[in-house]
Amino acid sequence: MKVLVTGGAGYIGSHTVRELLLREHSVVILDTLEFGSKKVLENLGVLDKLVVGSVSEIRLLDRLFEEHQIEAVIHFAAYKRGNESINKPAEYFANNVGGTFNLLDRMSRHNIKYFIFSSSGGVYGNPQVVPVTEDNNVLRPESPYGEGKLMIEQSLPWYERAYGLKSVSLRYFNAAGAAPEGQIGEDWNLTNNLIPLALKAALGLSPAFSIMGTNHPTRDGTCIRDFIHVSDLAEAHITALEKLKNDGESGVYNLGTGQGTTVREVVEMVKRVTRKDFPVKELPGRPGDPVAIWADSSRARHDFGWQPRYTLEDMVRTAYEWHRKSSQ
Ligand SMILES: NC(=O)c1ccc[n+]([C@@H]2O[C@H](COP(=O)([O-])OP(=O)(O)OC[C@H]3O[C@@H](n4cnc5c(N)ncnc54)[C@H](O)[C@@H]3O)[C@@H](O)[C@H]2O)c1
Repeated sequence: MKVLVTGGAGYIGSHTVRELLLREHSVVILDTLEFGSKKVLENLGVLDKLVVGSVSEIRLLDRLFEEHQIEAVIHFAAYKRGNESINKPAEYFANNVGGTFNLLDRMSRHNIKYFIFSSSGGVYGNPQVVPVTEDNNVLRPESPYGEGKLMIEQSLPWYERAYGLKSVSLRYFNAAGAAPEGQIGEDWNLTNNLIPLALKAALGLSPAFSIMGTNHPTRDGTCIRDFIHVSDLAEAHITALEKLKNDGESGVYNLGTGQGTTVREVVEMVKRVTRKDFPVKELPGRPGDPVAIWADSSRARHDFGWQPRYTLEDMVRTAYEWHRKSSQ
């Protein structure tokens, strides 16, 4: 299948490009490069597949859909910092929601039928019940970022009804780790995710790691999250796409390990894997951060036969190997 991967020069997008190539699909990558990097595409040998531009550009999308026999879109392109979105709702709604509706519009006009949407655990907000299944909580996002993801999810059935556009929305939580062979990983200059920042402190490239919030009602006072290896996520996107093409059932799915890990436990794991101690600062919690969230992914297991293969230790180890190599 020829797949347009939006945001394919970013973290999860590039790992998905890698997995698509391993499964002998072909790709076109659309990315503004605002948070993506040419270098990762170079490392994957697909720099020539990159088109630099935005999902908000009508003429550019028309040209791509006219020039390439694109059958499906995997849509990662978005801004992703939930906390930041609280102070920048206009930017988040314009880029994430406006951009996606533009993309869906052009897909409908060019009769592209398959859409895999990178949604987020952010749609749950601060859940009342954990682990979260796709429907055991009232969906109450705590940020414009999460709200935008939910708006898109909820619009997709209307696109199917009117234009026959089939879709799968994948809700995931905290992506982590790097490709097992180590050719790509997460750039810590472009992220505020926990594991890269803790590794930066472990490698002595930042003075300390900061924990945001230590007085929460959890087992050690820090937030609880569901970390999932980026290669497991990449595999899930492609499995979902292949399944969608074969039997055409649209849906919404959680992708998590089902394990809730506290921030302190992650810090301990980073210290254990790297065998390095580093200073940890304790700062107040941030608005919009849920206290505890982890996922029940039985639906994805049942419908796609997908289940995560990597542990938290694997996530830290693969990320550590990547950062050690790329920071030399
Ligand atoms: N990283 C996580 O833990 C996580 C968790 C849940 C959901 N998600 C979602 O997964 C997707 C990918 O996340 P990521 O961690 O790889 O982020 P990332 O920032 O590394 O990748 C996003 C890419 O999209 C590009 N981009 C942004 N706006 C664009 C636009 N309008 N047109 C074209 N390209 C654009 C950026 O340059 C970047 O390369 C996002 O939609 C994010 O909301 C991420």
